[in-house]
Amino acid sequence: MSAKHKIAIFASGYGSNFEAIATAAFAGVIPAEVALMVCDKPQARVVEVAQRMGIPSFVFSAKEYASKADYEREIVSRLRAAEVELICLAGYMKIVGEELLSAYEGRIINIHPSLLPSFKGARAIEQAMEYGVKVYGATIHYVDSSLDGGRIIAQRAIEYDGNSIEEVTAKIHSIEHELYIQTISKLLNKE
Ligand code: GAR
Repeated sequence: MSAKHKIAIFASGYGSNFEAIATAAFAGVIPAEVALMVCDKPQARVVEVAQRMGIPSFVFSAKEYASKADYEREIVSRLRAAEVELICLAGYMKIVGEELLSAYEGRIINIHPSLLPSFKGARAIEQAMEYGVKVYGATIHYVDSSLDGGRIIAQRAIEYDGNSIEEVTAKIHSIEHELYIQTISKLLNKE
């Protein structure tokens, strides 16, 4: 097993991707240590999950800062203190701003629950279902200043021809977990 790389995971909600990646890291499936979890929603389930797993977290409320640049400066200083090399966004519902992008250029990746460039933005799975697609999927891409528009790293598709948002969401989550773990592993093994 190669040396462990320090990664951070950013999340805002349930945290199933966070949990899957952190579990894979603990099990040695990926050559990574989750050195920091960053969350902008103090009430989110992911905060409890990080605590239960013993992963350090930085939880903040944007409204307590004067600007995005201010809270991102704080995030960058925490990431540097934790020696984080790669940032994985996993359901982080804030647009990443200039402070973070310039500090971690080319080292921020995101997972999105659609086959980009289709269905960018919020409610991607609902948008796809409303459109009537028969093939859903997930995409991992680099983050830049565009909305869900950075270079694509990996994608996976699944067929689904029903109308249960819960069912298709669960299917997408399970491919997301697998795809994210494989992609992080590939990126870190290259370094
Ligand atoms: C995931 O499906 C992820 O793709 C999506 O949020 C969900 C988080 O689930 N992200 C976006 O929509 C980003 N635009 P989780 O909290 O259970 O990992």
